[in-house]
Amino acid sequence: MAPDVYLAEAPSNIAFLKYWGKADAAAQWPANDSLSMTLRHARTQTRLQRSASGHHEIHFEGKRLAAQDPFAQKMLRHLTFLSEALEESQVPLHIDTHNTFPASCGIASSASGMAALTIGAVACWLEASSWEALTNKGISRAQLASWARRGSGSACRSLWGGFVVWEAAAGPASQRAYPLFPSAHWDLCDTLLLVSTAPKSVSSSQGHTTAWESPLFLPRLSGLPTRKRAMLEALADCNLAQLGPLLEQEALEMHSIMLSVVPPIVYLLPQTASWIVQIRRWRQEEGLEVYFTIDAGPNLHLICEPSTQPALLARLAQAGAQWLEDGIGEGPTLGMGRNKKWE
Ligand code: PMV
Repeated sequence: MAPDVYLAEAPSNIAFLKYWGKADAAAQWPANDSLSMTLRHARTQTRLQRSASGHHEIHFEGKRLAAQDPFAQKMLRHLTFLSEALEESQVPLHIDTHNTFPASCGIASSASGMAALTIGAVACWLEASSWEALTNKGISRAQLASWARRGSGSACRSLWGGFVVWEAAAGPASQRAYPLFPSAHWDLCDTLLLVSTAPKSVSSSQGHTTAWESPLFLPRLSGLPTRKRAMLEALADCNLAQLGPLLEQEALEMHSIMLSVVPPIVYLLPQTASWIVQIRRWRQEEGLEVYFTIDAGPNLHLICEPSTQPALLARLAQAGAQWLEDGIGEGPTLGMGRNKKWE
């Protein structure tokens, strides 16, 4: 009989308050709290089943990856970690994964990818094809989040929909991710303005290790609690005029850390800067209430309310831009079935 197929789908997330720099790399303990919005359309879909070949087999976007491929290596390391976390050796898996968006260009593919891999591998190994079945086996969503975090820090925020916090807390063992507000709390759009979809030259994992070398990092850490409080207040009140400037300060501050290490990590492109100027101009001169944030890449996430989006898209079209429409979304899904088609 053919082995059962488990289907795990996890969303990407865009950080409003950024995770950049670790307090303890081995424990994957971040230097600061972060806060994100889960995305609706940017998702990773992963199919898993027991492998007949006696070793893990990984297929990405329809192609089999060689074991030495860096992406396959990252997934294999995480599978080893998960199998150890489950405290018994687990059977090899056949994994088929793909993204609904271009990977490695600042759309946090590692967040959705590692979240989907964690949920799917644990579900397949424990033969649990629903959240309820996982809970019955003693596996909570918070537990999956803390395991996903070991694959990629930001993945722990992809275990819930809406707005999600990852709190550094007082020590590695007490850090945790949790949902702050569900998606229904505030319908925000995220228009991903594509400047380049080329893979980035420095991975976030490499980048994190350099943060402490920046002379700006300690001042950043001391200012973050105030920014976090202001952001929480703006989110609670659904106040974009308060949230927007905080999003922009936060994104530019993270890039200042990246730019002020030696050698500098330059994710931004000249077009990124031109768009920053353009977005601010549209806001100041035409009252278009749109704000940007940027991840570890050159692309801009344009945040606005649904009532503003048609005007934004019309301006982007006039300017010849390329974009992906996204917005606040729900958490991951888990299911089973050979014939089930992805939505
Ligand atoms: O989870 P990582 O190791 O890929 O780091 C993510 C870093 C940023 O995307 C730049 C910020 C964040 O908080 O998501």
